Amino acid sequence: MKRPLIINFKNYDEVSGQRVVKLAKAAQAVARKLKVEIAVAPTQPALALVARNVKLPIICQHVDDQKVGSSTGYFVPEIAKSYGASGSLINHSEHRIEMKQIASLVERLRGLHMTSIVCAREPWEVMEISAFQPDFIAIEPPELIGSGRAVSKENPAIITKSIEAAGMRSKVICGAGITGRGDVLKAMELGSRGILVASGIIKASSWVGKIADLAAGMK
Ligand code: G3P
Repeated sequence: MKRPLIINFKNYDEVSGQRVVKLAKAAQAVARKLKVEIAVAPTQPALALVARNVKLPIICQHVDDQKVGSSTGYFVPEIAKSYGASGSLINHSEHRIEMKQIASLVERLRGLHMTSIVCAREPWEVMEISAFQPDFIAIEPPELIGSGRAVSKENPAIITKSIEAAGMRSKVICGAGITGRGDVLKAMELGSRGILVASGIIKASSWVGKIADLAAGMK
């Protein structure tokens, strides 16, 4: 992925059951029409279903640093890949893990040729995480997640400081409170290499309309 708009489905009821396919297809329609790179992050049980229905990069919301084989109930990268996933979020603010596990998972995903997107809450965390050289680091201030107040407008400095902290080691993307084209435009102007978004799309009355609105800001 180069400059992705990543849609995190989280555990929103709006995308439960077959509705997960409807949102993924809406994303695909916009990606094709506007020629913007859009990736989807459905819940784990929906990975294979989404992979069967769309040709978009499919990102896990989380993977566990557990072994392949006897690790009941955990979700490991190798098995995720077998169902069509091409990458994973790691250390999302709603699912934090230890630095040691982050390092191990980034390496493991790299070995599998899967994209790693590690989330961070602060620029100092970006700095620490960048030592592992994940493909992307997503800066997301937790207080703005789901708030409708965009990180790019409420706290532009956290984006620029994160880019500085990551140096050449990882690309920085951002998320939290992104709901409109202007929020995306501002983030990209600040140097963000992509966007991570959830509620702004999932709660919208028209998925296609809202994804197109945000995607237009990526161009
Ligand atoms: O992973 C995306 C995320 O945490 C941002 O959520 O609802 O503010 O777009 P939201």
